[in-house]
This record gives sequence, C-alpha cells and structure tokens, in this order.
Amino acid sequence: MHHPTLCAVAVALLSALPGAQASLYSKNSPVLQVDGKSYERLIAKSNYTSIVEFYAPWCGHCKNLQPAYEKAAKNLAGLAKVAAVNCDDEANKPFCGSMGVQGFPTLKIVRPKKGGGKPMVQDYQGQRTASAIVEAVVQQINNYVVKVEDKSLDKFLGDKETPKAILFTEKGTTSALLKSIAIDFAGVITIGQARNKEAKAVETFGIEKFPTLVLLPGGDAPAIVYDGELKKEALVKFLSQAGQPNPDSPAKSNGKKDKKSTKASDKSSSAKAKSKTSSSETSSATPESETETATQEAPVIVETALPIPAINTPEKLIKECLTEKSHTCVLAFVSSSEDDKAKKALASLSQLAFKHAQSKRNLFPFYEVPKSNEGAASLMKALDLPGDVEIVAINARRGWWRHYDAADFGHESVESWIDAIRMSEGVKKKLPEGIVAIAVEEPTSAAPEASSEATPDATEAGKSEEATPVTPEASGEAARDSTESTQAADPTGEPETAHDEL
Ligand SMILES: *[C@@H]1O[C@H](CO)[C@@H](O)[C@H](O)[C@H]1NC(C)=O
Repeated sequence: MHHPTLCAVAVALLSALPGAQASLYSKNSPVLQVDGKSYERLIAKSNYTSIVEFYAPWCGHCKNLQPAYEKAAKNLAGLAKVAAVNCDDEANKPFCGSMGVQGFPTLKIVRPKKGGGKPMVQDYQGQRTASAIVEAVVQQINNYVVKVEDKSLDKFLGDKETPKAILFTEKGTTSALLKSIAIDFAGVITIGQARNKEAKAVETFGIEKFPTLVLLPGGDAPAIVYDGELKKEALVKFLSQAGQPNPDSPAKSNGKKDKKSTKASDKSSSAKAKSKTSSSETSSATPESETETATQEAPVIVETALPIPAINTPEKLIKECLTEKSHTCVLAFVSSSEDDKAKKALASLSQLAFKHAQSKRNLFPFYEVPKSNEGAASLMKALDLPGDVEIVAINARRGWWRHYDAADFGHESVESWIDAIRMSEGVKKKLPEGIVAIAVEEPTSAAPEASSEATPDATEAGKSEEATPVTPEASGEAARDSTESTQAADPTGEPETAHDEL
C-alpha cells in the first residue's frame, strides 16, 4: 500500500512550504477576503446577503471549490457578497471557532435582518458548484422592492418628499438586480415594481415598453424615464441623481480591482555597470551600443539546446506542476546536474526542447528538479522512484503520471518517450492520492492501467485531508462532510445564470 507514504508526502511538501499559510484567494480574486474584524463591518453589518467560506489553504476540497467559488463571486458581483476566511491563519482561529466551524470548507449564508440587528446565519449544505451557490444566495437576498399596483399607486406616490423609482416590467417576480438596487438605496430612494397589466400606473407614466425604469426625484421634480443600459452600474448612476446610494456596495467589494502589476524594468545591473556621472534616470536607459559591444566580445555560441529551467522549491513545484490546473510537466529529478547521467538526461531534454521550439511546436515544459528540493524528495518517494536520475511526466489536472523507465538517458530514447506522451501512447499511471491532496482531487477517468494498489481508498484520504478540525476536540464532528463527493469544480462546465438582468 502506498498510503502512509502518500499522506506523508502531503505533510512533507506542506511543511516544507513557507507559503502554506497563504490565502487560497489572490488579491485580484473576486472573492472578498475577510477576518474576524472585517467580517463585522463588511458582512454582519451589511444590508447585503453574503456567503462566507471558512477554509484552510491546504485543504483539498477547499482547493477544488476555489474556481467554482470565484465564479459564483463573479456572478454575484453587485448582488451579494462572496467572502472567504482563512481559518489556518492564527489570528482567525478564534473567529472560525466562534462561528462553529468544524471542518473545511464550511459555507455559511449570512442574511441581514431587515430592520437591523444580528443577521441570520445558516450553513450552506448544497452542491459546491457555482450555479448552486449562486441560486442559494440569490434566494436569500432581502427584498426591499415595493409592489406597485393600480390600487396602491396613490399610496405609493403619497409621500412626495422621498425619491422613488418604479420599474415597469412584464415579470411577476423581482429580479436579484432590482433587489440589489433597492438595497443600495434603502432609506434613500423607495424602489417599486409595477407589472404591465397595471393599466392605470402604466398610463400615468406613459410607459410604452417593458422593462422601463422611471425615477421620481421627489418634490415637484418631473419624472425621468431611464433609457440607458439595463446594467447595475449604469442604473445606480442614473438613480444617484436623486440620492446617494448606501456606502456598502458589493460591486466594489467583490474584487473589481483590476490592478495590473507594473514591473519595474530590470535594467539596474546594466545601469550599475556604467560609469556615467549622469542621473540614474539617464543611466537606466542603457545605450544599445554598449550591449552590442558586450555581445560581440563574447564567444559566439551556436545554440542547439534550450536550457532546462530548474525548480528549486516545493512551492514552485506545486505552482508549476501540481495544482488542479497544471497541465503536463516533464520533471527530471537529479541529485546533481554535474553527475554524468544527469548531464546526459538534461542534455537530451534540452535538445528536444530546442528542436520543438525551432519547429514552433508547442511542447509541455521540461524542468530540472534537484533532489535537494524537499518537494522533489517527497514526490519521488511517493512515486516510488529510487534512481539517481529519474524522468517523469505529470499531469496533475488529469491525475496521471508517466515514468521514463529506460536505463539509457540518450537523446533518441528520451525523444521517443516524449513523443509517446505527445501522442497519448504508453503507460499512464494514476497519480497517488497524497499528491492529489495538494493538487487535484477531482475523480479522474485517466489511468486505466492503474493497479488497485495505486487507487487509494478515497474515504480514508478524504478524512485525513479535508475534515481536519479547527480544534482537536472537534475531531468527532469534523468528518461530517468527508463522505461528500467532490463536486466538479470546473467553472467552464457550468451554465451561466443571469441574475444581472432586470
Ligand atoms: C442599510 O440600510 C439602512 C437603511 O435601511 C441605511 O441607513 C444603512 O446605511 C445601510 N447600511 C449600509 C452598511 O449600507
């Protein structure tokens, strides 16, 4: 059985990882990241319904959920808040505990009380797909929209001072978008909805098509018929002429920041090499002639090989090759690149990389992975690779790996192995669960060759990995959703639900 080794791999890889505590969601993620403090302000005190994920960055089901959760966040932008709390963060542990979190991920829907006060918090137990999450949250959005009928029209229009808006529509239901607008303007503009069959209302405002939004700015100001785009941003802007929306808009908090990292130019070294007395600004603009001179002086090397980049940290190994999105990677494990066998293997790969690059063929990346990299050692152990030099191909996305098992690392032999991978021929093995714990957990149909030995008991693995309790005392309950099947988290596979329409 591979089992004990595999679990050890996950642990070893993770403990070797300085970034293991890092958040699952990047700064640019549409998922709002909160902690105990900001939860109060952004979620508990909001007029918006939120869904909050309590997670640990190392938990496989959390990683599987990530794409779906981010997709849900995108779909709910402007309608509800989609937030996440990293319970692995020491500072958040008391908060996660106080929320009764006992396993990861735990999803809770937080619905504000209409008149204020403590919100209602319910566990979300539904499917972990973007569409299921979106539907569940949309169901819980508070409705401040007033139903306007002919018989109630006068009453609705009675208070002349408060600005009002009426959406005339053919629909009998209120859209999430209109609900969200009513939340934005709660206490500022009264939002109403009238059906096309309300003849008196329709006639009063001369409505000719549906949907049509009419703004009554208040006082004696005449009604204004909106004729812009039926999108949240434009609608809010239009209504803002009658009063400022509440400060709390999920459109902003659901990560609309589109910061593009501007990379500083890497000219510092060439600038340093110069002995000019000019300002640093001038010197950073390295004259072309200098660079050219340097090139001319260097010996001319005819390239027939591309250098194989090295992966030196477990972190990089995971990032490049072991996430659930990782495509095929070819990894050459070497004790030392000075070793003859290693040299030969790397040279073969370099030549191949060069050959493919020259013919502009897309080829999966090759990496040198020194065994000094703790991640490499753990991975080799998990894959049962004893050699000084080992070459494998791994596709974490599909959950398979292949072993180069010829004794000779010569160019031809390596090339035919690579070609077999390109053609999808030859023996694929199922990636063991220990790696899967870090990278993929989606059930994979790959690897029919996988022996029963290489197919670990999913329940066991799930337990050890997902349902880690926040506190040791909680272990009894912690396994509650370990048996839950992994949801297909691929966001592209899901139908779009349009809640951003009036
Ligand atoms: C919530 O709505 C009330 C009006 O009902 C408003 O006064 C308050 O500012 C809103 N809160 C936020 C955080 O937007």
